[in-house]
Amino acid sequence: MSTRSDQADPRKTAESLEYLHGFGNLHSSEAVPGALPAGNSTPHRPPLGLYTERFHGASMTEPRGNSRQAWMYRIRPSAQHGPFSRIDGGTFRGLADAQTEMNRSSWNPQPDPKPGTDFVSGLWTFGGHGDPAERTGMAVHVYAANASMKDTVFSNSDGEMLITPFEGALLVRTEFGLLHVKPGDVALIPRGVRFRVELLDAMARGYVAENFGRPLVLPELGPLGSTALADPKDFRAPVAAYEDVERPVQAIVKYCGELWSSTYDHSPLDVVAWHGNHVPYVYDLHSFMTVGTLSHGHADPSVYTVLTSPTDTPGVANFDFCSVVGRWEVAMDSFRPPYYHRNIGSEFVGIVKTPPFGPTMFGEPGAGMLHNMLAPHGLWPEGDVATTNAAALEPEWIDIGLAIFYDSRLPLKLTRQALESPQRQHDFDKHWQGFERRFPRSPLQEDINAR
Ligand code: FE2
Repeated sequence: MSTRSDQADPRKTAESLEYLHGFGNLHSSEAVPGALPAGNSTPHRPPLGLYTERFHGASMTEPRGNSRQAWMYRIRPSAQHGPFSRIDGGTFRGLADAQTEMNRSSWNPQPDPKPGTDFVSGLWTFGGHGDPAERTGMAVHVYAANASMKDTVFSNSDGEMLITPFEGALLVRTEFGLLHVKPGDVALIPRGVRFRVELLDAMARGYVAENFGRPLVLPELGPLGSTALADPKDFRAPVAAYEDVERPVQAIVKYCGELWSSTYDHSPLDVVAWHGNHVPYVYDLHSFMTVGTLSHGHADPSVYTVLTSPTDTPGVANFDFCSVVGRWEVAMDSFRPPYYHRNIGSEFVGIVKTPPFGPTMFGEPGAGMLHNMLAPHGLWPEGDVATTNAAALEPEWIDIGLAIFYDSRLPLKLTRQALESPQRQHDFDKHWQGFERRFPRSPLQEDINAR
């Protein structure tokens, strides 16, 4: 039973957390027995003197399957705050200065943060597309923090946040309860949920995708049937846990691309009980059931989709969150690595864990690689030669570490800081030069060329 969240040692707390299992379920949880009203969500006098608060993350009249809502029973209404003022977000930016970039792009990991950098001040924005005010598009960030957020909470009115650490575990305290998020996990924080990120290690780094579009859901499985890819049971939602703190707490909100700040005279993480489905989750990416060929060829890389933000066009996602972990390669008479390709979609690649044989072409954890709409890419010449000259194709377990992909329907525009970053590899195209010509020249064509 989790009760007050402000009293325990963070690491012990993180390692002893209980969870509610299942993605999209209507859950209910109470940190104090009797805090959750029975049979009526809005009783005349809520139990224990709590205040009832409704929280909608989707339009009220959406079909039931799209509904995202919760009822909260809290010490004070979240309305008890002062006026919000714009603040400088630093390197955590909207897309106001973002520009189109058609070149293949790659960045080395960002340098160490200054002392005292927390999760919010340590966010660094690559870019994105769309407009949070129009509820379309997404943005991509990395974070690097060496301090816990203290007497501060953050919430994102612009969209959900997918947090994928590659270094350092996190204790994420939310209005709905606590999540322990380790490298190899992904956390999903719904739009508008207030939360605080505390570090369980000296340094914390990771990737963040911000989804301005329709909430992320599990992809449809079609002929794969009911059990493949990410299993809904492996998503864990928190149990209710509250802070009873009466001192100033800053609330930072990202709102239409800018950061705003106000102050509570208490912690707004004071929800003692709740029920609903607009809740945070944590998911271990190693739980993913990888699907692929058992004979020859390749399945499309969409089989790596963990979560997808749908659009109104069936089959077209605002963006897909994909993850690749170790797998068996068994395809016979096949070019096993990804074939050379140009896609209408755009893909941003991040590395969570380096394979045992060393960094791949995607770089180290913290690196970023972007192939925007229709950018040709695939193996570099040395990888192509090694693959083509490989002897017999035997079944092979390939530990490729852990990579994540944000596959986006529209090209990502890059912020000025990403375009001009010292970490950007400005000679990235060199890697695709020098492919050996293997097609024989015809004497006739050589004769024509020589004239
Ligand atoms: Fe690709």
